[in-house]
Amino acid sequence: MSKIEVKNLFVEYSDNNKSFLALKDISFRVEEGEFVSVIGSSGCGKSTLLSILLGLKLPASGSATIDGRSITGAGTDRGVVFQHYSLFPWMTVRSNVAFGVKQSRKGLSHRQRLEIADRFLEKVNLPDFAHKYPFQLSGGMQQRAAIARALAMDTDILLMDEPFGAIDAKNRTIMQELLLSLWEGDGKTAKKTVVFVTHDIDEAIFLSDKIVMLSNSPGHVFREITVPFVRPRNRFAIFGTDAYSKLRNELMSLFYLDVAEKIGGDEVVI
Ligand SMILES: Nc1ncnc2c1ncn2[C@@H]1O[C@H](COP(=O)(O)OP(=O)(O)OP(=O)(O)O)[C@@H](O)[C@H]1O
Ligand SMILES: [Mg+2]
Repeated sequence: MSKIEVKNLFVEYSDNNKSFLALKDISFRVEEGEFVSVIGSSGCGKSTLLSILLGLKLPASGSATIDGRSITGAGTDRGVVFQHYSLFPWMTVRSNVAFGVKQSRKGLSHRQRLEIADRFLEKVNLPDFAHKYPFQLSGGMQQRAAIARALAMDTDILLMDEPFGAIDAKNRTIMQELLLSLWEGDGKTAKKTVVFVTHDIDEAIFLSDKIVMLSNSPGHVFREITVPFVRPRNRFAIFGTDAYSKLRNELMSLFYLDVAEKIGGDEVVI
């Protein structure tokens, strides 16, 4: 049985008695310990898909399951980084992270939770901001704090919606490496199952085992692509290879083909 299975999923939004189809007949699986990226153009339904996996929204038809059970609500088995900043404004950065730990890891003392929070704030390079409030941080820093919170929760499943979108190039590279090293772990414990939404094709290739490409709105699975590079990965070793260029070109052409269809163009120039 797959860890996550989405089957013939249709998702609608209703407004003033009118309904809008956001996702159309989506099916894919994520195996336990697999790192899957979802890519697709703006508005194709990536965040909608994550809301289904989070249990914040229910499908119009079809199903989404974790360990074979329908997702009917939020759960502490899932850590999440939302696309838009999602820290509690009334808590310090450190309390935000410790609060996440409290939700998912039972039986720890307050002191232990704070120690974990400090460790993860160190990892995302925010130790000096632990006692600040979210409004005192830049957008990218808030997003790093939200990532620290999700990672510190140490859940089996991580759902991440463009987590590095607002982060500068240098910190983005650091965060990608951090995420991969935490995901790969020490080989003794089971790897986390990750669903990672991104616009960035290079990021998707570097991080993922599999890429699910969604078509334009209403989103449906346009293509599923397995990323062939062995792990642990070294970005500099991968980026120069022919296999990398081939895969990247394939993804780029699919991406632009889809965009060209949407705008009515018949030629795709990359
Ligand atoms: N709460 C809502 N009510 C009505 N329509 C919505 C709602 N949320 C999203 N939509 C619509 O559903 C479609 C998919 O939106 P969604 O946010 O899932 O896209 P996305 O792929 O995450 O886009 P982006 O890359 O810009 O974040 C869009 O057309 C959007 O307008
Ligand atoms: Mg989105």
